[in-house]
Amino acid sequence: MKMPLELETERLKLRQLRESDLDDHAAMTADPEVMRFLNDGKTMDRAQSWRTMAAILGHWTLKGYGFWAMEEKATGKLVGRGGLWFPEGWPMLEVGWTLARPHWGRGYATEMGRVALRLAFEQGATEVCSLIDEGNVRSIRVAEKLGEKLIGPIRVTSFDCLIYSVKR
Ligand SMILES: CC(C)(COP(=O)(O)OP(=O)(O)OC[C@H]1O[C@@H](n2cnc3c(N)ncnc32)[C@H](O)[C@@H]1OP(=O)(O)O)[C@@H](O)C(=O)NCCC(=O)NCCS
Repeated sequence: MKMPLELETERLKLRQLRESDLDDHAAMTADPEVMRFLNDGKTMDRAQSWRTMAAILGHWTLKGYGFWAMEEKATGKLVGRGGLWFPEGWPMLEVGWTLARPHWGRGYATEMGRVALRLAFEQGATEVCSLIDEGNVRSIRVAEKLGEKLIGPIRVTSFDCLIYSVKR
């Protein structure tokens, strides 16, 4: 599967992360509210945040798709990251989203997710999931708005979460 490196939605420019995004990315991953339901729930320091950006770009190189940087077209601000994710050890292709807190509540995750799902299905994916902590009600709402249904609990790497999915 090959996704465009850049594209535009109604309000967002989806593009590759670049090193100049580090200040904004590090601020997002240093926020305990943002990180609460991601992986081990711990915040990241600037160096860890940089390595996460490198892993996101590496995922694009290895798989041909990955998380885009989500830039607000109106302001040019980095509002978050999201897209398609399928690292080793994952149960199936995932659509995922993370927004910096000032940009919650505007539908940006849903807007990006809709485009990512459409492209994935156009490229032959038959099912796409979202792996979500059972307490992450905001993310569950995004998954449901994208038509995803709860499959059940799942353990991925060492984390217990719920798997939601939508079929083509
Ligand atoms: C999960 C997360 C991305 C959800 O963000 P969000 O802003 O609530 O989600 P959306 O971008 O879809 O926005 C939805 C809200 O925006 C509002 N909204 C405003 N304009 C909108 C529009 N044009 N379209 C859709 N929703 C809009 C809606 O009221 C909606 O809230 P509602 O569903 O309660 O009515 C965010 O909470 C986050 O980044 N959390 C931390 C990281 C994380 O946990 N990621 C997920 C891991 S599984």
